[in-house]
Amino acid sequence: MTLMRRREFVGGLAAAALLASQAGAAETRPSPGGEGAPLRERAARKGLFYGVATKTRLFSDVPFLEAVAREAGMLVPEWETKRNAIEKVRGVLDFSAAERLFAFTREHGMAFRGHTLLWHQSNPDWLEGALTESPDERLLTDYVTAVAAHFRGRVHSWDVINEAVNPASGREDGLRPTAWLKAFGPRYLDLAFHAARAGDPDVLLVYNDYDLEWALPPYEARRRAVLRMLEGLKARGVPVGGLGLQAHLRAFGRTFDATILKGFLAEVAAMGLKILITELDVADRGGPSDPARRDQAVADMAERFLDVALDQRETVGVLTWGLTDRYTWLASREWSRWPDGQPPRVLPLDADLRRKPMWEALARAFDGAPVRKPA
Ligand code: XIL
Repeated sequence: MTLMRRREFVGGLAAAALLASQAGAAETRPSPGGEGAPLRERAARKGLFYGVATKTRLFSDVPFLEAVAREAGMLVPEWETKRNAIEKVRGVLDFSAAERLFAFTREHGMAFRGHTLLWHQSNPDWLEGALTESPDERLLTDYVTAVAAHFRGRVHSWDVINEAVNPASGREDGLRPTAWLKAFGPRYLDLAFHAARAGDPDVLLVYNDYDLEWALPPYEARRRAVLRMLEGLKARGVPVGGLGLQAHLRAFGRTFDATILKGFLAEVAAMGLKILITELDVADRGGPSDPARRDQAVADMAERFLDVALDQRETVGVLTWGLTDRYTWLASREWSRWPDGQPPRVLPLDADLRRKPMWEALARAFDGAPVRKPA
């Protein structure tokens, strides 16, 4: 079905009916580059979701959008719900780009998630100066409440805080020394979650971070610091409901141990938190020059990780940070881009939108996952 025809097809249906019908609708869509049901359908069968990050800058690429609508049951903005997108000018909230992405999810029976209310890397230019000049809590709480309220009832979950932990920076509590920490102390974490809850009484509120899955001591330190922080939040009655593992994985040069990840996820689940895989991709830098062998290693890494993650009953779904190698942030990162300029192969579809071994790995992981009980 073309994008236009699908739009007409879904246009008249209510949002709830849309979501309920998503499984059936997905199965009738064509699947270029491979047979079989799309990932959104395989996830939905198990009571899970599969989603992708994307951005409005890619909206002119219609075949890409068709692939997103076909494979993904959830969308998260790569940029449009960050503060440097919404509040470029102090006091002026601009939701127009985020709303374009949201409209796309309505047209295609997809859920929408928000990322991220607070992140030291997405503070608008004016913000940190303002915080130093007069550390007024409302610089944090007014924004967070307003954005959560704007999307109230329309969002699956919000990453309230992104990347607040960094034990390598030397603090005993393992918190990252950001402008927020400097202005308000560790209390800023509580402020952010309470402010988000004030804006939306029901949405799932998530803490999101990276490098939580590897073996070896520096990563163990990250896990301990995250657990300690989450325990503190829970003990103080702060409304955190989930942990997001970004899962920016690497196929080469990192040590993965399924037992360690399993143990960590069990500890998170025991705290009564949901688990989300929020930004999965698998960097292929450093692998063999034969792309087929690299694709296999990327797929193997994704599958080893997902087998553990989806076996944990509190895990509710998986998003990849993009869908196709045509567009990936890893092409521009120092640690992940190939020095000789060759394109990274890090996502489920290749640059021609064909399913890769990583797609097969995700499909198998969803197919093998235990069925979740409806919440
Ligand atoms: C990245 C986007 O992909 C880039 O386009 C942007 O320039 C910077 O942010 N962890 C996160 C995401 O939580 O927000 C980041 O997204 C990737 C790393």
